Amino acid sequence: MSKKTETVQSYWDARSELFGNYYKKPSTFDRIFRKGVYERQAIAVKACKEIPNATVLDIGSGPGINSVSLIKNAGASHVFGVDFAQHMIDYARNTVIEEGVADKCEFVLGDVLTYDFGNRKFDYSYALGVFDYVENAQALLSRMCSLSDRSIMASWPEDGLRMALRRYRYTCPLFHYTEQQIIDLHRKAGIPRENLEIIRIGGGWATIARKS
Ligand SMILES: C[S@@+](CC[C@H](N)C(=O)[O-])C[C@H]1O[C@@H](n2cnc3c(N)ncnc32)[C@H](O)[C@@H]1O
Repeated sequence: MSKKTETVQSYWDARSELFGNYYKKPSTFDRIFRKGVYERQAIAVKACKEIPNATVLDIGSGPGINSVSLIKNAGASHVFGVDFAQHMIDYARNTVIEEGVADKCEFVLGDVLTYDFGNRKFDYSYALGVFDYVENAQALLSRMCSLSDRSIMASWPEDGLRMALRRYRYTCPLFHYTEQQIIDLHRKAGIPRENLEIIRIGGGWATIARKS
């Protein structure tokens, strides 16, 4: 029987609670097999800490747990989250109220590739677990670069057994990268290799691209 296919938006709209619980109630399975989720979170915090009182753009902000972490653990002054799944936005808004940082966070519904940011710019932008679902990675990375004055952080899944298992389970499209593709995407977005830090994490890589 063929499995039902969904858009990325409807896939994640139905899974806000599930994803939130990877952080709030991690199981032993999560800690072992979703290690990359926690590693990339720590790298996002580390990169943000380099910028005092950073204003942050959280691309595909999901349940908002990372936004809270950047305020509480990295000294960010404000986080602006964009996600196209309404239930993720609702979940994130509740999360920041529960965590007492609602005055420093704002979440809007929209597709990051088309959302109108007006003249708004940020010190730091990051996308955790998002390039997995974006067909035009160059468009997203270039957009992140144009919206960020200081640095850009992202996670990138690799091909392999874990990706094969995800493809079997997931009902939405998934994309993967090689290290060379990641370097090329950054170069085309205006980030030379010497400004790009590539860190191995479970299931792929995390990158920090520094503009200065
Ligand atoms: C795997 S979840 C990760 C959530 C969060 N970044 C985290 O690491 O906790 C991916 C999120 O990206 C969002 N997303 C994917 N593509 C998007 C797009 N083009 N515009 C806005 N949100 C997007 C999904 O709705 C989902 O909430």
